[in-house]
Amino acid sequence: MRILLLGSGGREHALAWKISQSKDCSQLYIAPGNAGTADFGINIKLNATDFEGVKSFCIEEGIEMVVVGPEEPLVKGIYDFFKQDVILKNIAVIGPSTEGARLEGSKAFAKSFMFRHGIPTAAYKEFNSENYEEGVSYLQSHPPPIVLKADGLAAGKGVVICQNPVEAMAEFELMIQQSKFGDASKKVVVEEFLSGIEVSVFVLTDGKNYMLLPEAKDYKRIGVGDKGLNTGGMGAVSPVAFVDDTFMEKVIKKIVEPTIKGLAEEQIDFKGFIFLGLIKVDDEPYLIEYNCRLGDPETEVVIPRMKNDLVELFKAVSQQRLNEVKLEIDQRKAVTVVAVSKGYPGEYEKGFEIDGIDMIQEDDAIVFQAGTKLDDSKIVTNGGRVLAVTSFGDSVKSAADKSKAILEIINFEGMYFRSDIGYEFY
Ligand code: AMP
Ligand code: GLY
Repeated sequence: MRILLLGSGGREHALAWKISQSKDCSQLYIAPGNAGTADFGINIKLNATDFEGVKSFCIEEGIEMVVVGPEEPLVKGIYDFFKQDVILKNIAVIGPSTEGARLEGSKAFAKSFMFRHGIPTAAYKEFNSENYEEGVSYLQSHPPPIVLKADGLAAGKGVVICQNPVEAMAEFELMIQQSKFGDASKKVVVEEFLSGIEVSVFVLTDGKNYMLLPEAKDYKRIGVGDKGLNTGGMGAVSPVAFVDDTFMEKVIKKIVEPTIKGLAEEQIDFKGFIFLGLIKVDDEPYLIEYNCRLGDPETEVVIPRMKNDLVELFKAVSQQRLNEVKLEIDQRKAVTVVAVSKGYPGEYEKGFEIDGIDMIQEDDAIVFQAGTKLDDSKIVTNGGRVLAVTSFGDSVKSAADKSKAILEIINFEGMYFRSDIGYEFY
């Protein structure tokens, strides 16, 4: 099969690494990709949201399957674009329809979907400029902490947890009246704060059947001990020790199955990944959010633990016969540690040469690249999150130690990584 993968992060490097191992993959292209994906296919200078450009490329190169990594092309409707085009409609697209992607693209849509299907989640109300005053009274009558969420995509920054009423009111005003997140915060979801431990559960669905993938926990804060600013993710661990069979059964019964059934009942075409952002409150799972794609850096631990041929799985998804495939999981622990540029998640410089990647040749570790590019055959930094080093081990600690040892060999100016990824499972 001739496959086009869209995206350019560590998630896409992990997907490219896995897709290229498939007996069904004859040629892989990645648009736009990074210096790491270039080892597994051909990088194409094409933006994933340039649908006309993607169309021309698919026609010229006889692409048979498109795998969509990030949310933006999905929320902007790439699946429907393909299915409504006479030439493209037979190409398998791994990712949901525009309506399905609203589970991530609109927090208000996701919350109302959860309530329609009886899925446990935090109580909420939605507000905009028309019922602004009602929102102000709601905030006054609900004690902090309280969670404010911009309805639309806001590059991972649209959720603000407010610790006091003054902060909540100011943030509410900024979001709705001052368009803090542009159109994304014209509508705001105000939500009850849930206290517990978070875990990400990944599901692959063909719209009728589903498959549970390995769960993961990511580390969002920049600093050791989960301190400091939020980032895209500084590391991840899979499996997650507190996710035992009893908890997983509750997740399946209360969240996964009502979601799949709800999508079918509402005739929402969904052939792709569902990322459930869960929180465990007193042994009960609550759904905080849906994403319509895999997580990053969670993918860098989830995909390496999957032993199956990924393209075979994707073919089963597009042909709605996922029930015929059995998932095989590596039982070892996987830990990924992300190396970032100095200054991230604030401002940072790019273009520093990365040394040492070619010295790493381990059987049980992989250096995934995120914000990198090739510059005259040298690998240079090209983003905030630069590398994600994934290692396997018999314990979380041994896996994390291995990733850190590898990062001691690699170097670029201003490189920083968290030394405590997976600490609560040591
Ligand atoms: P989201 O963008 O929806 O993933 O939210 C970002 C983060 O905010 C989540 O990973 C949680 O840590 C936190 N969060 C979101 N909603 C809630 C909630 N209702 N209660 C507590 N924390 C939340
Ligand atoms: N690591 C969180 C995300 O991909 O949204």
